[in-house]
Amino acid sequence: MGATIIIGGAWGDEGKGKVASREAADAKLVIRATGGANAGHTIVFHNKGEKHKLALHLVPGGIVYPQATALIGQGVVLDPKVLVEEIEELEKVGIPYVRTRLRISGRAHVVFPYHKELDELKERLKDDPIGTTKRGIGPTYEDKKARTGIRVYDLLLPVDKLAKKIEVATRPHNQLFKANGMEDRIVDPKVLAAQYSEYGKIIKNMVINADILTEEVCKNGDKIVVEGAQAFRLDIDYGDYPDVTSSNCVTAGTLIGAHLSHKCVDKVIVIAKAHCSRVGNGVFPTEQPAHIENNKVTEYDEPFVGDVIRETCGEYGATTGRPRRCGWGDAVLLKSACSQAVTGADYICLNHLDSIGKIGETLGYIKLCIAYMYQGRKICYYPDNMELTGEVPEPVYTEFEGGWEIPSSLRDFNLLPAKAKKYVKIIEDITGVPVKYIGVGPGNDDIIVREDV
Ligand code: GDP
Ligand code: IMO
Ligand code: MG
Repeated sequence: MGATIIIGGAWGDEGKGKVASREAADAKLVIRATGGANAGHTIVFHNKGEKHKLALHLVPGGIVYPQATALIGQGVVLDPKVLVEEIEELEKVGIPYVRTRLRISGRAHVVFPYHKELDELKERLKDDPIGTTKRGIGPTYEDKKARTGIRVYDLLLPVDKLAKKIEVATRPHNQLFKANGMEDRIVDPKVLAAQYSEYGKIIKNMVINADILTEEVCKNGDKIVVEGAQAFRLDIDYGDYPDVTSSNCVTAGTLIGAHLSHKCVDKVIVIAKAHCSRVGNGVFPTEQPAHIENNKVTEYDEPFVGDVIRETCGEYGATTGRPRRCGWGDAVLLKSACSQAVTGADYICLNHLDSIGKIGETLGYIKLCIAYMYQGRKICYYPDNMELTGEVPEPVYTEFEGGWEIPSSLRDFNLLPAKAKKYVKIIEDITGVPVKYIGVGPGNDDIIVREDV
């Protein structure tokens, strides 16, 4: 047993939530490790015969399985308001004992409203904004690194002590608000402390020293599922800096956030889609034109290829509702994401093999990127010096005629259409990593698991 680590292989929204939740069906412990409410993880599951669809931002999706303990780890930046709403949502759809099965690391940092104000302001002050989710993620991690952050433990302090911490933490922020004519945003530490102490009361019994919990589960050899957030190209170090998030969302960062060492790892699954998507700004080699302006779809008569992909796959942000930028699948990007040095991928899960078939049926063809032309050479890795060269890699595609249809009930790899199998084989050949899991629908169970790899 040990830990199954779920990592995003592109720019997020690959279907990590679905896979992590499904993997949790026989897990003892499920963990969210990094990021915060910037993540939106869609799960589709049945409870007492009824079908439910939830977009979770903080609680690991494995909580829907009643034997699992769910942990929000130390690497997460936690917005208590979102958390409480999410707990209530889970209770509303009949998930049992949420409040007794959910655990929160006392060392996780807290997102306050001023972090969201700062997120907006800092984006406004840039010539080239990142297009963040405005969930206060960057500023909360900034405070953490500046060692002025407020942790979940602090919400349990007497209210005057919490107020003092907030007062110290917000001194530099208030100066920034003042300098930008935002005096009305200046924080009253006493008011905020009183409000957040109330959240402290709600979550008090869930707050733990998570090292003890993870050590016990690891020692017993029970199954752990770590639900990574964001993805390889959004990682603060590996990603398309500065168009990245503020955490290390590849395997190593995820382990720290989850209170685990490499010794606890059983397998790493890198999640990809058969097409690609990105929200926010930044490089995207296989992106296709679409009718999107200022994060909104504009009116059109004839769709561009990007519109067809977006609408076929329902590519709208689970957190912000923004239409996602869409493009063809990219085996080169995936190869880099699966590198043994970066994520140490054991397996790939390729989601949306059903959707790419539908796109092919609509357009009459499907493209898959198998190499890049870059600096006059054909390469098969994702370059990291594009700002220096001023060049974006140009995809070299292989093309499939037409599309295919895959019913979401299909579970036998051998019964896939021949072209779809070929699509999978090309990805395996380029990445050198087995595609053990194939997504054929949005449901937690809509996955083919290949026993032959
Ligand atoms: P995450 O952030 O990585 O958890 O992914 P999101 O939930 O943001 O986005 C993935 C979207 O794709 C969601 O709408 C899922 O319901 C959907 N999805 C995931 N896997 C599949 C699949 O194999 N087929 C189809 N049709 N939809 C899928
Ligand atoms: P999941 O876990 C897709 C993107 C934002 C922006 C950049 C920085 O659902 O895959 P941030 O708010 O983190 O400072 O924004 O990162 N981003 C995501 N894109 N899926 C996510 O999470 C994302 N989390 C952050 O759009 O470009
Ligand atoms: Mg998402």
